[in-house]
Amino acid sequence: MARVFSSFVLLAFVFSVAFASDNSPLQDFCVADLNGQVLMNGFACKKPSCVEANDFYFSGLHMMGNTSNAQGFKVTPVFVTQLPGLNTLGISLARVDYAPFGINPPHTHPRASEIMTVLEGSLEVGFVTSNPENRHISKVLCKGDVFVFPANLVHYQRNTGNTNAIAIAALNSQNPGVMPIASAVFGAKPDIPSDILAKSFQVSDDTISNIQNKF
Ligand SMILES: *[C@@H]1O[C@H](CO)[C@@H](O)[C@H](O)[C@H]1NC(C)=O
Repeated sequence: MARVFSSFVLLAFVFSVAFASDNSPLQDFCVADLNGQVLMNGFACKKPSCVEANDFYFSGLHMMGNTSNAQGFKVTPVFVTQLPGLNTLGISLARVDYAPFGINPPHTHPRASEIMTVLEGSLEVGFVTSNPENRHISKVLCKGDVFVFPANLVHYQRNTGNTNAIAIAALNSQNPGVMPIASAVFGAKPDIPSDILAKSFQVSDDTISNIQNKF
């Protein structure tokens, strides 16, 4: 019995390591061949002898993102598609710009935790734990503050000031993905039937249709 239990613990440990983030590389690097025809988990590797410094390089995070949109925010990603050298490394980052009082609406990253540093301004940030608690954990951050959003949990940021805010987010996936709650639920193509959403959100079909029309 003890042996069965210890095997189980060992197995659980092995699996928790294996699934903690993107798979570990089995060579020095595997620069993404973004035009490759091979479909696999991640991208196939460019021939190592053809790899050059620019494969490990990205320029542009000094540039402000265009926040002229309904939410007043812009993400400038540096994921594997922008920086092919990230392939198989399990890391990436992004610059996030916020207009005064702009928000990055509630969303999840299906493949990554996120650690965020505020470079300019102040941000109100928060995430919600899973059922049944659905505890909302939030905090106001100032320049230089760091906050972590655990993998897969719904989280958001809001610029609390009347100046622009800037943050850098680092994520433990080369391709963290994003699932914005509002557009996933109300902007799905084709639509999720409005009566399903009406019952879920306990509002009328008309209210749901109004929201769906915005996405
Ligand atoms: C910013 O985005 C808005 C809306 O898409 C667009 O009208 C505007 O030209 C953009 N501004 C710049 C500087 O690109």
